[in-house]
Amino acid sequence: MIDTIIIRENRINEAADALKKGQLVVFPTETVYGLGADALNPEAVKKIFVAKGRPTDNPLIVHISCREQLIELVEEITPTAEKLMAIFWPGPLTIVMKKSKIVPDVITGGLDTVAIRMPSHPLAMELIRLSGVPVAAPSANISGKPSPTSERHVIEDLKGRVDYILLGGDTEVGLESTVLDISGTKAQILRPGVITYDDIFNVIGELSYDPHLIDENSTPKSPGMKYKHYSPEAEVIIVKGNKKSVKIQEMIDEYTLEHKKVGLMATDNLLNSFDEVIKCSLGNANSIDDVGNKLFRCLRYLDQLKVDVIISESFDKKGFGIAIMNRLEKAAGFHIIDSEEDER
Ligand code: TXA
Ligand code: MG
Repeated sequence: MIDTIIIRENRINEAADALKKGQLVVFPTETVYGLGADALNPEAVKKIFVAKGRPTDNPLIVHISCREQLIELVEEITPTAEKLMAIFWPGPLTIVMKKSKIVPDVITGGLDTVAIRMPSHPLAMELIRLSGVPVAAPSANISGKPSPTSERHVIEDLKGRVDYILLGGDTEVGLESTVLDISGTKAQILRPGVITYDDIFNVIGELSYDPHLIDENSTPKSPGMKYKHYSPEAEVIIVKGNKKSVKIQEMIDEYTLEHKKVGLMATDNLLNSFDEVIKCSLGNANSIDDVGNKLFRCLRYLDQLKVDVIISESFDKKGFGIAIMNRLEKAAGFHIIDSEEDER
């Protein structure tokens, strides 16, 4: 056990010093909380994997606060990188580029590329700037749990495992950054996020998804995507189609008969049509950003109530909905019921 010091913005200097000394610091970003260490200190970075229980072949994102830091981490800053940075940084876009020699293997899992992001959260920016080092940081959850989007989540998962936790309220986006690989001849989205295909296409033109995101059987290019993620203790089932209200009621009745405790996560209108069930709101159906913000929070909340089954509404796979469904389908182990088909 490590004696974890929990602080707010007024003590950010201590957290920056801790990073410089090779200690572990949890900090807020605009997407989810991160678990940071000095990216150029391999001993410090190794501690991240231990604290999270993370497989060491899963590479880490390096967080920077200025262009000077980028120059030393990559082989070259290509014209494509320049365009992307000008539009999306600081912000929730991670760019995979050819790495320079100074990036240690523990960061990249031995790959010749490095994933880099300049976060827009003011506390993240300030922490990196004050520490003076690039900060390697995966999401600050125990491996396999949904990424943390609130103060409570990081304390639950990492108190006793890190040196500092810098609190900064709820995160804004609620899902992890879009990961875009521009190290090859054609740019590829490796992990969908709030910065969408169209957003990126409009800036750089040519673009594709990692085939793994479309075909489950192909191997993902982003090593982290192959691991079972976002898996609550409860069984998660997604219900789609126009007859979802009827189907969900049938399922609730059936599980109740089997003495199973059911949790329902859905947008407000749908949620309001059910009574005898534990609920978690995914916000307003007209705001997909709201859904993204609340998704992990609901999974964690229902899990904490020890429900046996979590039933979730489904969302259109367009725009930010693609990222939301990517995380939700993983949480559900691809267990999806179409309410317009007779049997499940
Ligand atoms: O929003 C975020 O990205 C958050 C906050 C803390 O910045 N971080 C985050 O990190 O989600 P993590 O470690 O949970 O996810 C990093 C993803 C993994 O899927 C990993 O495999 C991929 O990025 N990745 C990292 N380096 C890579 C590389 N060189 N090539 C391909 N994929 C890489
Ligand atoms: Mg993660």
